[in-house]
Amino acid sequence: MSTSRPLLYVSRLLPHPVMALIHDRFRLVQEPTETSPTPAVFRDGFSRAEAAICTLMDTVDDELLSSASHLKIVANYAVGYNNIDLDAARRHHIVVSNTPDVLTDATADLTWALLLATARRVVEGDALVRSNRWTGWTPTQHLGKEVSGKTLGIIGMGRIGRAVAQRAEGFRMAIRYQSHHSPPAVPGVWEPRALDRLLQESDFVTLHVPLNSKTRHLIGTRELSLMRPTAILINTSRGPVIDEAALAHALQSGTIAGAGLDVYEEEPTVHPLLPSLKQVVLLPHLGSATMQTRVQMGLICLDNIQAVLEGRPAPNRVT
Ligand code: DGY
Repeated sequence: MSTSRPLLYVSRLLPHPVMALIHDRFRLVQEPTETSPTPAVFRDGFSRAEAAICTLMDTVDDELLSSASHLKIVANYAVGYNNIDLDAARRHHIVVSNTPDVLTDATADLTWALLLATARRVVEGDALVRSNRWTGWTPTQHLGKEVSGKTLGIIGMGRIGRAVAQRAEGFRMAIRYQSHHSPPAVPGVWEPRALDRLLQESDFVTLHVPLNSKTRHLIGTRELSLMRPTAILINTSRGPVIDEAALAHALQSGTIAGAGLDVYEEEPTVHPLLPSLKQVVLLPHLGSATMQTRVQMGLICLDNIQAVLEGRPAPNRVT
């Protein structure tokens, strides 16, 4: 890095330890806040900075990158980078990096939190106790679905999919997976399946694919109709992997039994039917939301920026 501190644009306030390092090492185009920058502020940041940290909520397209004449790197504060036009970044010789590995455990843990909360009606139970209408234990109250010993279908067996599968061992679950990665099959326990068969065989289906043209609406009306009427669908990947309207109608009509969602097609908008359905648990995109993980994600962004500004390869380059 040059002796004067480089000019950095950060689109959102990051956890305090990361902001402290940023203030120490960089000049900021402007102080970030918790809320989305306006399009004008966002464009101004990109047009002036040598490096930018942005989030999955920020669309980084050709037009924006065309005006970023000083920019050398966009460090995406996420493992997914579907918000960035990679071809445009390549054309403009701007490096793009992401934050793999450090959020694997947090996201796998949250996947399990959603799966268990949906299966065991945790949110409904909490609401009942808080309402002061709970009249005491009964044999038939809030009966949920057994998780242990059931079949878990995992679509996408990358880092997070595998971490979800490892956690399933404690629940003695059979794993059926569909993936371009090829984890070793463990006969009778971890077995590959074509998508349709996986959907037919699974008690729980969980999605761990990146969003791209092949995975957009991977789960729609046809796929939902292949699932068991008792099955639960979990999504902590990207909202558009599911056709959200088709899912809302499948839940309403009983095609499947429940869903646990952390991500939505048009965040922060949620299909209007979903909040009215009690068999659905809805979270506000919390997959990586632990202090430890969010700090590590920030440190990875800074490592990549430092490397590029010093003329070295970015360790987590995706372009
Ligand atoms: C990611 O990293 O892609 C998550 O969705 C946000 O942490």
